[in-house]
Amino acid sequence: EDNGKDDHQFFMHKEIHQQVATTRDTFHHTQHCLLDIPLDFEQFQRLTIVACGTSYYAAMVAKYWFEQIAKVPVDIDVASEFRYREPLLSKNGLALFISQSGETADTLAALRYAKANDQTILSIVNVAGSTIARESNISLQTQAGPEIGVASTKAFTAQLAILAKLAIHTAHYRKVIDVKEVKHLLNEMNALPGLIDITLGIEDQIKVLGASIKDAKHAFFIGRGINYPLAMEGALKLKEISYMHAEGFGAGELKHGPIALIEPGTPVFVIAPDDSLLEKTLSNAEEVAARGARCIIIGNQASIRNLPEGMEHLILPPCDNRLSPILYAVALQLIAYHAALALGTDVDQPRNLAKSVTVE
Ligand code: G6P
Repeated sequence: EDNGKDDHQFFMHKEIHQQVATTRDTFHHTQHCLLDIPLDFEQFQRLTIVACGTSYYAAMVAKYWFEQIAKVPVDIDVASEFRYREPLLSKNGLALFISQSGETADTLAALRYAKANDQTILSIVNVAGSTIARESNISLQTQAGPEIGVASTKAFTAQLAILAKLAIHTAHYRKVIDVKEVKHLLNEMNALPGLIDITLGIEDQIKVLGASIKDAKHAFFIGRGINYPLAMEGALKLKEISYMHAEGFGAGELKHGPIALIEPGTPVFVIAPDDSLLEKTLSNAEEVAARGARCIIIGNQASIRNLPEGMEHLILPPCDNRLSPILYAVALQLIAYHAALALGTDVDQPRNLAKSVTVE
């Protein structure tokens, strides 16, 4: 029977597995498009990025890339808030809208607001010919193919793939990065699909882990820097499809409130590649472990070397720490998926959610 799921129980599972190909296709396609798009990468002073839901977390990650790699100041907003805060948009600024469907009403309203305020409109959509694509000055398309599962997976990593390329491209044009570094980053990007494949290869281990949290009252995800938005995305995935209460926080912010929620056995997923913030992130993990939390470190061989006793870990392959969100997202998707599977929810059609929200 051809229901489009191939051998997968749910579309979401199929789509998680398609990410080896969809990230690769998106990298290659974007490389081509960027050479042709009529955008002056040297000129724009400020970038405003607006989106909803998972696409907003892609925007949050992109803020780190544009500021750190391309040295462009970035403002980000959730679309439903953007126009109501009456943002001060710079003259001839660039506004970027990210949307899988290209039809989200809040994002579209924000786009029209930016257009009325003389911004150049750039969009990243997964659906060619969608309203957001049509109303943009320039639209780039993620090569994720149709995404059926309501919880976004392959569209998210494809958005990140385009955004990383855009940031590197912008850095190159502005001469804030040397050619060697551009080459290095592009090589690292080209290696990512292979690393995603390796991560999919430890699914059996992630399945046990995902199932093991099914009876928890809350689950938390923490990370620092570029992994902070990823912590929020990991929590969003889990709540969307498992209905478990989950929250993501910047690891350093835990002690300012959220730590009160930690009880003995509360799962805390710690996104911890071996970056410059690792030590601080691990010390935040110790703070919750001391209150009885069950810490699961999601890192790599180098970052789990000196873990405090009692902490569990998941080891992903090493990659450039600037690009790690694309890889770590896959592990977080699988954790949410297997928790939901263990709970027996309707993974592809979670209650109360719609794939595309066309009302404000
Ligand atoms: C809905 C979906 C989310 C999605 C958000 C933004 O709420 O359930 O998964 O992230 O809309 O959608 P968009 O199509 O604009 O990326």
